[in-house]
Amino acid sequence: MTKIRAAITGIHAWVPEDVLTNSDLEKMVDTTDDWIITRTGIKERHILKEGKGTSDMGVEAVKGLLKKTGTNPDEIDLLICATVTPDMQFPATANLICDKAGIKNAFSYDMNAACSTFIYALVTASKYVESGEYKKVVVVGADKMSSIVDYTDRATCVIFGDGAGAVLLEPTKDEEGVMDHRFYSDGSGWIHLHQKAGGSLKPASHATVDAREHFIYQEGQPVFKFAVTRMADVAAEIMERNNLKSEDVAWLVPHQANLRIIEATAKRMGVGKEKVMINIQRYGNTTNGTIPICLYEWENQLKKGDNVVLAAFGGGFTWGSVYLKWAYDAKNQK
Ligand code: UT7
Repeated sequence: MTKIRAAITGIHAWVPEDVLTNSDLEKMVDTTDDWIITRTGIKERHILKEGKGTSDMGVEAVKGLLKKTGTNPDEIDLLICATVTPDMQFPATANLICDKAGIKNAFSYDMNAACSTFIYALVTASKYVESGEYKKVVVVGADKMSSIVDYTDRATCVIFGDGAGAVLLEPTKDEEGVMDHRFYSDGSGWIHLHQKAGGSLKPASHATVDAREHFIYQEGQPVFKFAVTRMADVAAEIMERNNLKSEDVAWLVPHQANLRIIEATAKRMGVGKEKVMINIQRYGNTTNGTIPICLYEWENQLKKGDNVVLAAFGGGFTWGSVYLKWAYDAKNQK
């Protein structure tokens, strides 16, 4: 029997209008445009207004996706939202997105593996499709990082931005779609990157707010060292497992955490810069938005049959890569 695979058949993304530039940050903390560009590659990031949540970005991405793929909301079987910044602890942001997008026949839930969640969720969703039971599955990657960034901490506030993307997965019997993945996690890395309060270990209190413990805590250097080797290693591993030489790879789609990490990954894969999707300069690290926003921006350049490698690294630590064989030419879509 021919194996059913899950193929991405559409993609859309959305970022908020408001932009926070490096020169804006120079007025807020002791930093410089030069430092931020040299160390991270970031020039500006988009910030969602107060009073709006992650679901408000996710729903824009989903509505655009449904429209461009000619999909009726009632046809969606499942929606998974990858996020570390849910609107609320519960219910799941995925439930809120479905409600706002008029998706009534789907079940929906969130996943959280920090910055790696989008690729974890993509593979989780692909397994539902491969089972043959689910025909249309949406994976959203969305984060309002500005809601957990401490804008008095120069080491973290320059890095993050807000944004969302969404993909539609459908079954195919062709040799395309989600072909392979390698995922890893190492919980001992929690110490270097976490949010200290607001969970069951340390619920919110006056003391936790006063101590600024609801913001991202990151020790940049250890995270950088781990990320730079692990993301490159896992991207090289997926190539070896699938007998892909550097010339066989059409696109590397890396999580946009730091331009230096992206360049190290591309170098290890032997992939030239022209094949690497990089937009960190305009959005910063939107956590689970990075990879779908890249795919959306490069959609018109992706061709049916392209070998595409996704790679991510995040808190936890979590990291991994996915090998996709791209399933459509955007220009031929209706
Ligand atoms: O996506 C989730 C995973 N996260 C990551 O992958 C992030 C990984 N880490 C990084 O990308 C980098 O570590 C950072 C961008 C966060 C920091 O870059 P770095 O090259 O590792 O800098 P550093 O932390 O070693 O700091 C170097 C210096 C320090 O000053 P001293 O001690 O040398 O005097 C910092 O205090 O730069 C200082 N510094 C800044 N200076 C100006 C830190 N932040 C800033 C800033 N502006 N915004």
